[in-house]
Amino acid sequence: MFNKITNCAVESALKAGKILKEGFGTSFIISNKIGKNNLVTEFDKRSESIIIENIKSVFPGHVFLAEESGNTGIATSGSVLWIIDPLDGTVNFAHSLPIFSISIAAVQNKEILCGVVYHPILDELFVAEKGKGAFLNGKEIKVSNSDDLESGFLVTGFPYNVNSNPCGCIEHFVSIIQRGIPVRRLGSAALDLAYVACGRFDGFWEINLNPWDVAAGILLVQEAGGLVTQYNKEKYWLDDQTMIATNGKIHKQICDVLSRCGCGINNNPLTPFFKGEF
Ligand code: IPD
Ligand code: CA
Ligand code: CA
Repeated sequence: MFNKITNCAVESALKAGKILKEGFGTSFIISNKIGKNNLVTEFDKRSESIIIENIKSVFPGHVFLAEESGNTGIATSGSVLWIIDPLDGTVNFAHSLPIFSISIAAVQNKEILCGVVYHPILDELFVAEKGKGAFLNGKEIKVSNSDDLESGFLVTGFPYNVNSNPCGCIEHFVSIIQRGIPVRRLGSAALDLAYVACGRFDGFWEINLNPWDVAAGILLVQEAGGLVTQYNKEKYWLDDQTMIATNGKIHKQICDVLSRCGCGINNNPLTPFFKGEF
């Protein structure tokens, strides 16, 4: 049903999921990265190695952008770039909270070809292929139908430097919760997007996301009939600073609330990864 690239993404996510499931709840090495409470465990690295190894065995000429190892491979025009978050929700994993995922996407010529998000503990596999729809464990999924932000159910997240309130993200959060709208913060942006895609949430917003947090989830939402933009309603690409992903029906309403708080500056530090060919 899916093409070779998507099947390879699925196989890689399942292999990595097995490793994370085995490691979950055991004792393992945890280190700190840049930012406050930004952790990395030995399982982030083991998961990433198995994913890259598996993809390379099928597609030796492809290139990679993976959270723990950065850019690898030599890109030429039209190269396929794999964007990988081997463990999205590391802080949850490190605290034995069973909410985390693996996120794998393939991108070519500014187009996301496929996106896979896997929650190994629940064995929930979300797969999207460009033009073919989005699926949860083989069943087609669609975004929710709700068209009123005030009765919506939303999810968000915060960057690791939230303590310095970049882009006014604390005010963004306040502007939604003060309307009495229920908001969750799960700690895995890839899952947040997958849950918008299958209608569990009506919308998601966050700033300063990394390409590996969202590449797969964006395609899931789009293929499930939803919409992904910046706060100012402009098209979102992987180096943009603000993201809103919704069922489409509440999109304008949430954009209007969040953009009123103001944030037009695109200073995502990861932008250089995406200059040029991708
Ligand atoms: C984080 C999660 C979290 C989001 C952060 C991300 P990590 O990724 O996706 O939900 O709020 O912005 O950095 O560090 O667990 O891979
Ligand atoms: Ca992540
Ligand atoms: Ca990660």
